[in-house]
Amino acid sequence: MCGIVAAIAERNVSAILIEGLKRLEYRGYDSAGVAICGPDGLLRRSRRIGKVAALEQALSDEPLPGRLGIAHTRWATHGVPSEANAHPHFSGEALAVVHNGIIENHEALRARLQGLGYVFSSQTDTETIVHLLHHTLKRLPELADALKAVVRELHGAYGLAVISAAQPDRILAARSGSPLVIGLGLGENFLASDPLALRQVTDRFVYLEEGDIAEIRRDALRIWDAEGREVQREAVQFHEGAEAAEKGEYRHFMLKEIHEQPKVVQRTLEGRLGSDHVLVQAFGPQAAELFAKVRNVQIVACGTSFHAGMVARYWLEELTGIPCQVEVASEFRYRKVAVQPDSLFVTISQSGETADTLAALRNAKQFGYLASLAICNVGTSSLVRESDLTLLTNAGPEIGVASTKAFTTQLVGLLLLTLALGRVRGTLDAGVEAGLVEALRRLPGHLQDALAMDKTVEQVAALFAEKHHTLFLGRGAQYPVALEGALKLKEISYIHAEAYPAGELKHGPLALVDSDMPVVTVAPNNELLEKLKSNLQEVRARGGQLVVFADREAGMGNGEGTHVVAMPPIHDLLAPILYTLPLQLLSYHVAVLKGTDVDQPRNLAKSVTVE
Ligand code: G6P
Repeated sequence: MCGIVAAIAERNVSAILIEGLKRLEYRGYDSAGVAICGPDGLLRRSRRIGKVAALEQALSDEPLPGRLGIAHTRWATHGVPSEANAHPHFSGEALAVVHNGIIENHEALRARLQGLGYVFSSQTDTETIVHLLHHTLKRLPELADALKAVVRELHGAYGLAVISAAQPDRILAARSGSPLVIGLGLGENFLASDPLALRQVTDRFVYLEEGDIAEIRRDALRIWDAEGREVQREAVQFHEGAEAAEKGEYRHFMLKEIHEQPKVVQRTLEGRLGSDHVLVQAFGPQAAELFAKVRNVQIVACGTSFHAGMVARYWLEELTGIPCQVEVASEFRYRKVAVQPDSLFVTISQSGETADTLAALRNAKQFGYLASLAICNVGTSSLVRESDLTLLTNAGPEIGVASTKAFTTQLVGLLLLTLALGRVRGTLDAGVEAGLVEALRRLPGHLQDALAMDKTVEQVAALFAEKHHTLFLGRGAQYPVALEGALKLKEISYIHAEAYPAGELKHGPLALVDSDMPVVTVAPNNELLEKLKSNLQEVRARGGQLVVFADREAGMGNGEGTHVVAMPPIHDLLAPILYTLPLQLLSYHVAVLKGTDVDQPRNLAKSVTVE
């Protein structure tokens, strides 16, 4: 994902910009660049493929002094990684822009601008913005006025920063679908796509909202909202607890990461949704072309990431009709696989360094898959580097060994993939896609509601502390959620937990059920609910204690031996994401009651880089 940093100060800004870019490195990138307005009033830039260190070296060989600058790390979406495609992009010699996101109507804009005589020097969608701005400035000479007119013509998602040698006392910024934050200094101000990029220069931030345009001067700030009204946005103090690698107010990293989910899911979605559809380019420059050919999907992953893949299979087959297979990487890598024609090979991994998943990818390259796609949280990982296409989940560092936010953001990424494939293949109804995009936008709020049930879940956890075995049940896409719930409980509380599709209960596990074997069930309000209720009767009839996470409209109530935790209603296809949260909280509270090492459970490693 691209990263933006900008600065206006009374000192040279290049070191600030480079430090900011380094702090954005976690997002993954393939090139980096900076443009600075020098003391002679001229704009100059430096761009390099690869690491920010290469750009830093270039600037140390050939410094770019100046008190106004913009910088960028690029993650290619339109056009290959190259110096020419790296940002900042210029129009003429006096206007520069950096952009995060995707401009969907760039082809039409490009044709129009070429008709007006503009010559393009890159394959990027971003270059259309800067030429359009250049053209508009002829009519509206104030940068802010021109930018307001330009954004009205852009379709897609963007966060962007602009500087002009003609107006060297300001940075202009616009936000729509990609985050931007202004850092407030003393007699100097900054802009970035993540406050972490500016922590070395300030701890006071103003977050831009959707549709905002900002004019940032050294000692003044003006913001206009989506309707063009001038607005004041409150400055907030960045507190240490918000640092990614610190626990802050939380007792454990796992609890912190569970509570981060509404925020990080929002981040997974950022820059990837159009008004009523998923932006296919979010998967990389060749995604649209490759997705058009996909007739099968093979997913490979380990542990929690494997469970995410299992959920995706329900989504892919139901929504797109594309057959999907899911397998654990340690099996896949040693098997003679019969590859279906036109198969997309998808790996899912938090770390991107899991040995089995990497080996499976490397083997797959010899098997004749159409292309490989990595859904991954670490942009600099081996898995990302070795895959044809990537979707970064942007969950931020996950420290707790038991995976939580990595899982839910993987699910969001996989649903985006489902919608993108269905869209390109023409097998997904546009109304269904629009409904799901809308539901995805509301998802962070629903996740927040689910987290508000923490106290209730904590009470239920007491039922488990003395038990040695538990059973988790789910049907349909909730079956992998049950698997994930059981895995969490095993990992951190050391209680033996197994998950079954609820319909399999009578084929064996029912023999285990008695008053010492609690049974946990996830029960959204869907067409499988009535069948699930019958399965639960089977458990009750054997004296089993039931804990049911049920839609509050599902008509299930507490009773003798039955504890119902009421869940907020949700779009059925998003239920696997929502219902995961109370199961995470349940394991967490059981582990705390048992006094185990929540963040570093015995015998387990966060990243398994050996076989
Ligand atoms: C380890 C971790 C799990 C994780 C699995 C796969 O076992 O403890 O939490 O799900 O590896 O890791 P990955 O980084 O590939 O998602």
